[in-house]
Amino acid sequence: MSILVTGGVGFIGSHTVVELQNAGYDVVVLDNLCNANPKVLDRIEAITGKKVPFYQADIRDREALNEIFDKESIDSVIHFAGLKAVGESVQKPLEYYDNNISGTLVLVDVMRQHGCKNIIFSSSATVYGDPAFVPITEECPKGVCTNPYGWTKSMLEQILSDIQKADNEWNVVLLRYFNPIGAHKSGTIGENPNGIPNNLMPYITQVAVGKREELGVFGDDYDTPDGTGVRDYIHVVDLALGHVKALKKIEEKAGLKIYNLGTGCGYSVLDVVHNFEKASKVKIPYSIKPRRAGDIATCYADASKAKEELGWEAQYGILEMCEDSWRWQKNNPNGYDD
Ligand code: NAD
Ligand code: UD1
Repeated sequence: MSILVTGGVGFIGSHTVVELQNAGYDVVVLDNLCNANPKVLDRIEAITGKKVPFYQADIRDREALNEIFDKESIDSVIHFAGLKAVGESVQKPLEYYDNNISGTLVLVDVMRQHGCKNIIFSSSATVYGDPAFVPITEECPKGVCTNPYGWTKSMLEQILSDIQKADNEWNVVLLRYFNPIGAHKSGTIGENPNGIPNNLMPYITQVAVGKREELGVFGDDYDTPDGTGVRDYIHVVDLALGHVKALKKIEEKAGLKIYNLGTGCGYSVLDVVHNFEKASKVKIPYSIKPRRAGDIATCYADASKAKEELGWEAQYGILEMCEDSWRWQKNNPNGYDD
């Protein structure tokens, strides 16, 4: 039996494929490569010493999915495939709803037709909106999202929950990621954004490697210790290991489960800059800019449910996250392009 990883060539998917193979799972990867480079597959193989069966296909392509499910014996799906650029989602809501929501509907329908009713879904702390309280537990009410990307996550959580409630043969694990950064220790796979990075860590690493002049810090007047936004950064390898634990939960016939995957620690933008400087020995010039629309002051997890029920806990601290992000960027200044 194999695990189908949709979006497995992307940032979090590729790290998860490594950890799944290391844990002895047979993995099949599906990705349409709209935001990924196929060289990642060779790099995964170099790390694990195992081949990665790969299908270039779109999750909206029912025929292609049917072929994969007919050919492979798929036990569970880890579903990463989706568009994730917040700003772009505001400009192109239709494309985001089509890709993320229509795509997932096709995927789960094909799964059902093939008797595969186990899915782990990549959700996000963004579903909490401006959280009612911090640290955020899974009981924190879902909030108002500020962009279509966030709504796709919130709506897909609802859709998958309804499917599980209607048919308890389904096992659905919704994983709400906080802020994934870092990279595999080998420095051969990592985050590779297109164009100007939207997220903090890739922006910092591009400043460090000389591709950008300075970091803009979006606001220093939040109600936080140093006035800059506070987030729960989590090492992508810890996140990947969380999926391996979630699969074990699925094997126990979990029903519907929701877990936060974060460290439980909040760091401000300036904390991250200072830790990165310490890890890389490179100075990061920055200037304070206005707040970014849709940003919140503070967001960090209470991750105790995942610890109690999955036996999962993040191992890596902020300094190691910075070291590993830096190793990846330094060794691959142009990402996967030569
Ligand atoms: P990513 O863009 O690196 O990976 C997503 C992958 O899905 C890409 O390889 C892309 O080519 C593929 N894809 C997109 N649409 C597809 C489609 N229609 N058919 C087939 N493949 C398709 O992003 P990531 O950072 O690895 O994120 C993985 C998942 O986790 C996404 O669903 C994202 O929304 C979610 N998530 C990410 C973060 C984050 O900060 N990176 C936080 C919370 C949730
Ligand atoms: C963002 C998205 C969120 C998504 C997540 C992962 C927004 C409003 N939220 O989360 O929906 O799930 O990415 O893709 O886009 N910052 C700077 N300068 C920069 C970049 C960021 O100061 O150049 C600050 C931000 O204001 C924030 C922190 O760094 O305080 C983290 O930002 P980012 O990495 O973009 O993540 P989130 O905003 O938490």
